Amino acid sequence: MHTEKWTPVSWKNYPIQQQPVYPDEAQLQHTLETIHAYPALVSSGEIELLRQQIALAARGERFILQGGDCAERFIDCKESIIANKIKILLQMSVILTHGLRRPIVRIGRIAGQYAKPRSQNTELIHGLELPNYRGDCVNGFPATAESRAPQPGRLLKAYNHSAITLNYIRSLIDGGFADLHNPYTWNLHSIESTTKWPQYKNIVDRILEAIHFMEMFGGVNSQSLGKIEFYTSHEGLLLDYEQALTRFDKERGKYYNLGAHMLWIGERTRHLGNAHIEYFRGIANPIGIKIGPTVQTVELCKILDTLNPENEAGRIILITRLGEKNVQDVLPELIKSVKSSGHNVAWTCDPMHGNLVTLDGGQKTRKFTDILSELTKTYKTHQRNNSSLVGAHFELTGEEVTECIGGALNLNHDDLLINYESYCDPRLNYIQSLEVAFALAALNQHEKSQS
Ligand code: PEP
Ligand code: CO
Repeated sequence: MHTEKWTPVSWKNYPIQQQPVYPDEAQLQHTLETIHAYPALVSSGEIELLRQQIALAARGERFILQGGDCAERFIDCKESIIANKIKILLQMSVILTHGLRRPIVRIGRIAGQYAKPRSQNTELIHGLELPNYRGDCVNGFPATAESRAPQPGRLLKAYNHSAITLNYIRSLIDGGFADLHNPYTWNLHSIESTTKWPQYKNIVDRILEAIHFMEMFGGVNSQSLGKIEFYTSHEGLLLDYEQALTRFDKERGKYYNLGAHMLWIGERTRHLGNAHIEYFRGIANPIGIKIGPTVQTVELCKILDTLNPENEAGRIILITRLGEKNVQDVLPELIKSVKSSGHNVAWTCDPMHGNLVTLDGGQKTRKFTDILSELTKTYKTHQRNNSSLVGAHFELTGEEVTECIGGALNLNHDDLLINYESYCDPRLNYIQSLEVAFALAALNQHEKSQS
């Protein structure tokens, strides 16, 4: 199993899950060839920089903030929506840098997060059984048989939208968008009217003070405050597409997936002896592995042996998404066995995917309190087991959507009808995202004040 020579197509020799079946194979092949011939989206040099950052995170010298949509939508490829997403990730990272006293590694679920695994192949809508929506790069969201049929042309559209999004992100950052002096950087108007603001204002004031203090010493100028690294990621799900973006780097002598800096393997496709593990073992990018509550420790260690046989630092991010109820039962065993296997990993927590609630009306949501609870329990469980949580993974947006319940605005079930935009899982909105960053930063402060 996974012992034959790896090639960009060796995954085809293994069973595979979660792939669409295209009616027109010739059109699919033509589209894949077109993508393969196009330029890469990112460079191997950038990927290697990210790998170094993750290696530092695993040693507790960085904190990884990974976030963005559950499913990016082609219609959201707009200046304001992209800028708002970068802005919320930047604001969160400033709060986290201050609270956790470490630089933050920012990784967006962006510029390529267009493919979704689904628990069911079909869904019943108004008595009609239709193929499930599998992300904009596979099929359309509208509930008709025509829109739900997989169309190869969407893969090319996904490549194009990824390129457009990434180009805009790069131009924003190069143009000084991340400069902490920019007035919009600290435009927190929407949270200032909530009852929680007095509690947060204190922290924001301290951050601003710290920036001014550093400036007075002349050690930091607006240029260095504006210069940040930003990385992209998506779930590596559609292996035909990922293969088309896999390139050999002659100088480094390795294959990279140049469609994103980091890719992760989902909870539904991370099985040994299957195509996804085979594909991922051959690319040199940092790899995330989502881990749900049913994972077996032996299985996890074998996955690590397969994906990182040389135990290279900065290669593996373990993303636990256990559900707040399961953290205390499951996580200690996982930590123990990974520790005893000697594998070097960066532990992060996705407090979203284990806490999904489906309401009677069929609407999917998550409770803000459950999200905080999983983060807090995960943080503390690592501490108690001589390990540390070095990153967090969120589904979020910079828009004022109403998809998750709770938070400073106290959104309730009825509010979900106001502005529910996601085609897939519910995201934290702008205010909820800021709050989660304040809460995470406070965890560390709390610990300091106790020690
Ligand atoms: C996701 O991140 O959107 C996702 C489907 O996650 P998981 O594989 O953890 O369920
Ligand atoms: Co999701």
